Amino acid sequence: MRTALVTGGSRGIGAAIVRALAPTHRVAFTYHDLHHRVRALELETGATAYQYRAGDEGHLFDWLSMEQVEPDVLVLNAGIAQRRGFETLDSGDVLKMLRVNLVAPMRLAREYVPDMAARGWGRVVAIGSTGGVDGGVEQVHYACAKAGLHCLARSLSRLYSAQGVTANAIAPGPVRTDMTPGGTIEPEAVASLVASLATDGAGYITGRVIEVRS
Ligand SMILES: NC(=O)c1ccc[n+]([C@@H]2O[C@H](COP(=O)([O-])OP(=O)(O)OC[C@H]3O[C@@H](n4cnc5c(N)ncnc54)[C@H](OP(=O)(O)O)[C@@H]3O)[C@@H](O)[C@H]2O)c1
Repeated sequence: MRTALVTGGSRGIGAAIVRALAPTHRVAFTYHDLHHRVRALELETGATAYQYRAGDEGHLFDWLSMEQVEPDVLVLNAGIAQRRGFETLDSGDVLKMLRVNLVAPMRLAREYVPDMAARGWGRVVAIGSTGGVDGGVEQVHYACAKAGLHCLARSLSRLYSAQGVTANAIAPGPVRTDMTPGGTIEPEAVASLVASLATDGAGYITGRVIEVRS
């Protein structure tokens, strides 16, 4: 059975991805703050939860290594949003956004993708955003970080697809979660696409940014 690591799997899109992968994978997922949904999801799916704060990847890597979790499928989903007008954004807002939504996924990829390539098989799916494709209005820094994440997936594809590792980004519009309660796309729509990209059959799909719009 292949192993999947889903960051930010405790709720929203990530939890739907954990549910979609759990029947066919050994799933490890991360959460930021412990809440009742974390343990409930572990019980429901048989997946295992690990606490992880973006910026503290070393702790997560040590913990997963101790438990012999070697991801074959890496889902870069954890992220933050912040609605703030462009003219009021300060450097702190921008740097935090980039740290959580771009630097941390890049560190995770750097840790796990070379090992996938050495084993000859792997799947990376990054959860981007239509903002990263279209540009942002209410969240310019978010859109810029997501554009960078899309580019990370494309770059990983160029670097590693010859060694059996595909890398793609999914760019959804507004998804109904705590982040966007008025979203019109169901988290399961994104999750089923992730599950499909994680299969053997999706081995020829790589370096793509797949938009999910309502
Ligand atoms: N919802 C949308 O409309 C939408 C649209 C396009 C793309 N996306 C992207 O999809 C992904 C998931 O979004 P969502 O709507 O499911 O969000 P969500 O419901 O707010 O869940 C966010 C997840 O990320 C974790 N997280 C938050 N801050 C973190 C940090 N600093 N370090 C590590 N983990 C952290 C959270 O952990 P806790 O549960 O412990 O807080 C949670 O598991 C994000 O990357 C988001 O940008 C969302």
